[in-house]
Amino acid sequence: MADNATDLLRRYLEQRRDAGESELVLDSMTVEDVMRIVGARASAAPPPDEPVAPPAPIQLADVGPSIIVGKGGADLFGGPLAKLASLEALAADAAKCTRCALYKTATNCVPGEGSAEAKLVCVGEAPGEQEDLSGRPFVGKAGQLLTKILAAIDLKREDVFICNVLKHRPPGNRNPLPDEVTACSPYLVRQIELIRPKVILAFGTFASQTLLDTKLSIGKLRGTVHRYYGVPLIVTYHPAALLRNPAWKRPTWDDVQHARRLLDGA
Ligand code: URA
Ligand code: URA
Repeated sequence: MADNATDLLRRYLEQRRDAGESELVLDSMTVEDVMRIVGARASAAPPPDEPVAPPAPIQLADVGPSIIVGKGGADLFGGPLAKLASLEALAADAAKCTRCALYKTATNCVPGEGSAEAKLVCVGEAPGEQEDLSGRPFVGKAGQLLTKILAAIDLKREDVFICNVLKHRPPGNRNPLPDEVTACSPYLVRQIELIRPKVILAFGTFASQTLLDTKLSIGKLRGTVHRYYGVPLIVTYHPAALLRNPAWKRPTWDDVQHARRLLDGA
């Protein structure tokens, strides 16, 4: 790399670091932009004598079975929270919930937010610190990445519904306990019942394994369409995991494109 290009790249990265970023994730820069910065040769035309390599085959993960949880149609109705007639009523009920102990340590309940007509419901694990303080889901660092992931499939946060399996924050972000999940799950089931989305996107191991009632890994759960009470469900990595492991950006991109195609009825 030419010294000048190295210098430019270093200065670019220093700027990003000074701006508080530790990783480059779903950057709005194209690969070509970055290549220009580092002074790489243009990619469009390979040198005349260089054979054009076929694209590397997409590594299909060792995909597991498609999992079906609950029946479709009216099966959901009549659950313990069927009396909650709207998302607002549900949020008010969750804010007073004492079914597990998390309400004692939480600052705010984080029931979820978005459109009652959403075609897509995004499900994460549990509120973190920022979410607990604000009462809103996915507003911290992982949330900002979720917003970018949605933008990549042409969706704004307001277009979708964003929530978590747990509605109150586990202290110190510890993993949710089975009893907490059991106590809280009827809220999520009722939210999905009220919204009746076209697609559910489960973000991360916890949401995926909880919704699909399985111990299978994300690697096995990705790449296929599951059903949650009749609604197609796609599994992908948690944005917080993407921040730690940028190599999962590409598969996440594939997963959300898959969700987009389902939304479009393709
Ligand atoms: N992580 C989650 O799973 N949910 C949030 O709301 C924030 C971070
Ligand atoms: N809860 C999560 O699941 N992830 C976070 O990053 C924070 C809270």
